[in-house]
Amino acid sequence: MAALLATFLFSSLLVSSVDISNKIGVNYGRRGDNLPSPYRSIETVRSMNVGRMKLYDSDHEMLKLLSGTNISVSTMVPNNDIIRIASSQAAAEQWVQSNVLDFYPDTTIRFVLVGNEVLSHDQRIWPSLVPAMRRIKNSLNAHDITNIKVSTPLAMDVLQSTFPPSSGEFRSDIKDTVMAPLLRFLNGTKSFLFIDVYPYLAWSANSRNISLDFALFRGRANQTDHNTGLVYSNLLDQMLDSVIFAMTKLGYPDIRIAIGETGWPTAGDIDQVGANINNAATYNRKLIQKMTAKPPLGTPARPGAVIPTFISSLYDENQKPGPTTERHWGLLRSNGMPIHDIDITGKRPLSSYKPLPAARNNVPYRGKLWCEVAPGVDAANLSSALSYACSQGNQTCAALNPGQRCYEPISVFWHASYAFSSYWAKFRKQGATCYFNGLARQTRNNPSRGHCNIPSVTL
Ligand SMILES: *[C@@H]1O[C@H](CO)[C@@H](O)[C@H](O)[C@H]1NC(C)=O
Ligand SMILES: *[C@@H]1O[C@H](CO)[C@@H](O)[C@H](O)[C@H]1NC(C)=O
Ligand SMILES: *[C@@H]1O[C@H](CO)[C@@H](O)[C@H](O)[C@H]1NC(C)=O
Ligand SMILES: *[C@@H]1O[C@H](CO)[C@@H](O)[C@H](O)[C@H]1NC(C)=O
Ligand SMILES: *[C@@H]1O[C@H](CO)[C@@H](O)[C@H](O)[C@H]1NC(C)=O
Ligand SMILES: *[C@@H]1O[C@H](CO)[C@@H](O)[C@H](O)[C@H]1NC(C)=O
Repeated sequence: MAALLATFLFSSLLVSSVDISNKIGVNYGRRGDNLPSPYRSIETVRSMNVGRMKLYDSDHEMLKLLSGTNISVSTMVPNNDIIRIASSQAAAEQWVQSNVLDFYPDTTIRFVLVGNEVLSHDQRIWPSLVPAMRRIKNSLNAHDITNIKVSTPLAMDVLQSTFPPSSGEFRSDIKDTVMAPLLRFLNGTKSFLFIDVYPYLAWSANSRNISLDFALFRGRANQTDHNTGLVYSNLLDQMLDSVIFAMTKLGYPDIRIAIGETGWPTAGDIDQVGANINNAATYNRKLIQKMTAKPPLGTPARPGAVIPTFISSLYDENQKPGPTTERHWGLLRSNGMPIHDIDITGKRPLSSYKPLPAARNNVPYRGKLWCEVAPGVDAANLSSALSYACSQGNQTCAALNPGQRCYEPISVFWHASYAFSSYWAKFRKQGATCYFNGLARQTRNNPSRGHCNIPSVTL
């Protein structure tokens, strides 16, 4: 009896060590036109001792290159395939056949993620999400594959409240219809809830009330959640626990959590506070130390839990639209060189890293900002961006008409700078950015040099 019990315990320990080792992963985002080849990327990742790699697709070349490495792979069903797979077991079987069975077990596939942040957009897909996950899981089961978990990464916007952590609650539009069945599936299959957690975004949206030190794991003042008495030393733990409390309210207190994406941008626009190499290195290094600590630290609501974690991203990706931070989440530059020194195994003591460049933008900029044509842009590239900006909204470019106050000098560069500023000033609150595919950048200096009153953003 004792021997039997020992065997049982031993084997269950073995199973969980496969599932929940604390090795750190990276996200292999590829939205760049200047990135190293998959072959070189794998070599780099191996030399960095990256333990897991999360793909945003199931690229066959990557899956093949990853075979025989000891890297645990997370592969993804694209959002576009979800409805089709949900409606047909044959479609699921075909997907599993050509994207899993053709590579497994030589490639250590550990997760199949169905879609990416589906609940943050495209409502049409929502009803199909859990059915598609079930079908993929059925197909894996039919092939006796039990150590590949099926999940789906969610963004923090699945929560309608996160602070204090005990108030964590899922959005009412998805709570009963999607989250409850999703949690039932994850619990029943002993899978993980994948959540993309960016303390940077939470802090930068509220940098007056949240201290930077708290977001960067160097809080000296801990915060207590007065509903639970739990004490928090960092923002990441607060965010993770808000997810745990939201799950608990739906009756699933025990589903394990994995962090699908986290990180800190190394550069940003003038209106983006705290995006710099110093903060990014601090965040990533301390994150890695926390997540690889032995014994595991977990979070205040779940002390001792192992949390598989994927850092975003492997590379800076120059084709991501939106504010400048979007193109600067990489651990590596697009040429493969490290942006800051980092030991992904967490073994290197923090005190042994060289001093970092000083952070210059940790306090929000206050003043006026304009949006102007970026240096080096070719005039021929400006006209379609100019007409796009001027077509948005009423009177955005009225001052540029012949005879109007900003018509002179008649130059496409000047007119485009006016149009970009006017458009951005009008629509920034609705999320418009000063980017225009790289044609524009923010500036503190009025591009008209005073000759015409050009609309600006005031921070
Ligand atoms: C993979 O890991 C196992 C056990 O940790 C080790 O024996 C083996 O050499 C590793 N293989 C490679 C290719 O690193
Ligand atoms: C979740 O899974 C556990 C372990 O398998 C089980 O005991 C529990 O009843 C499940 N919870 C729900 C709400 O189904
Ligand atoms: C910041 O804290 C103050 C005082 O507690 C509060 O009134 C304000 O709403 C908070 N701001 C945000 C953005 O949460
Ligand atoms: C804050 O909490 C951490 C983790 O629980 C603990 O190690 C640390 O001593 C606390 N710091 C303060 C100032 O209370
Ligand atoms: C600018 O124009 C050139 C040639 O027309 C084109 O190759 C390039 O991609 C354009 N750049 C942008 C940012 O649109
Ligand atoms: C456009 O703007 C002008 C001046 O600001 C205003 O008088 C007019 O009503 C606006 N038209 C529309 C359709 O909003």
